[in-house]
Amino acid sequence: MAGRVPWATVLAMTFVEVTHAGHVSTLTINRPDKLNALSEQVLGDLNTAIEHISGLDHVRAAVITGTGKAFVAGADIAAMRDMHPAQAREFGAMGHRIFRAIEELRFPVIAAVNGFALGGGCELALACDFIYASTKAKFGQPEVNLGIIPGFGGTQRLPRRVGSAMARELIYTGKMINADEALRIGLANAVFEPDELLAAATKAAEEMATKGPLAIASAKRLIRDGMDHSLPQANELEMDAFGEGFGTADQTEGMSAFLEKRTPEFKGV
Ligand code: COA
Repeated sequence: MAGRVPWATVLAMTFVEVTHAGHVSTLTINRPDKLNALSEQVLGDLNTAIEHISGLDHVRAAVITGTGKAFVAGADIAAMRDMHPAQAREFGAMGHRIFRAIEELRFPVIAAVNGFALGGGCELALACDFIYASTKAKFGQPEVNLGIIPGFGGTQRLPRRVGSAMARELIYTGKMINADEALRIGLANAVFEPDELLAAATKAAEEMATKGPLAIASAKRLIRDGMDHSLPQANELEMDAFGEGFGTADQTEGMSAFLEKRTPEFKGV
């Protein structure tokens, strides 16, 4: 890949580290003593990381993972216990804003789920484009065990990802499922040995980074927004976006490269 650089830390905060190589950024949530639980501070660092990578023109794909035995074991229960309803609403809204920002990134994001992805952790993974899981991953929405509901989008994104019946079962029982079960129900796209997970996610991200970035951004937007429209309306959106794609240099380059039997070099214009 052109412009490839060695792995380098570009932004190290207390709870989130951002590294990048070539066109791929990796965000690592780093609060292992609390299983990477999402406090306001962790969410704040995650927000900064998302804003940071969204402003880097050369980034074309990202991976989100966690340090230690958890991806993210949920929102921070200790921080939430004494919240008043208005504070809880604001905390939930903060999670929603950040996870929406992940969905609105112009490039794909893979959740590399290395361990527990519970509550807000499962919801974070669901805000990513797709999930690669380690054999050690455990998924669940255990909020009902605490007497609350999922608050960072779980009641909405989980049924959209795995279907209403399976989402209801997971949310109403609060049970944990392993990586194979997550794969079976379509929550995870693939399962890897723990020491192969990050390499596999990075390889997939690197591969997507070689494709037309405007085309991927357009497809991501259509898949994300299409669900909120009727099928005929969503297909209209696709027709518009398909046509617009023919006004880009990437389209000329991609088709010319095919006809000239060479590898395309997409510039994202
Ligand atoms: N919020 C705050 N702290 C959390 C946390 C969370 N969501 N999940 C784990 N932790 C903390 C634990 O309190 C513990 O802290 P301590 O060492 O100061 O006591 C530390 O992380 C390690 O967790 P522990 O429970 O000892 O690990 P375990 O391997 O025995 O169990 C889990 C792992 C994931 C099964 C268990 O931690 C758990 O059920 N966590 C809560 C999951 C949850 O309900 N998430 C949804 C929140 S809305």
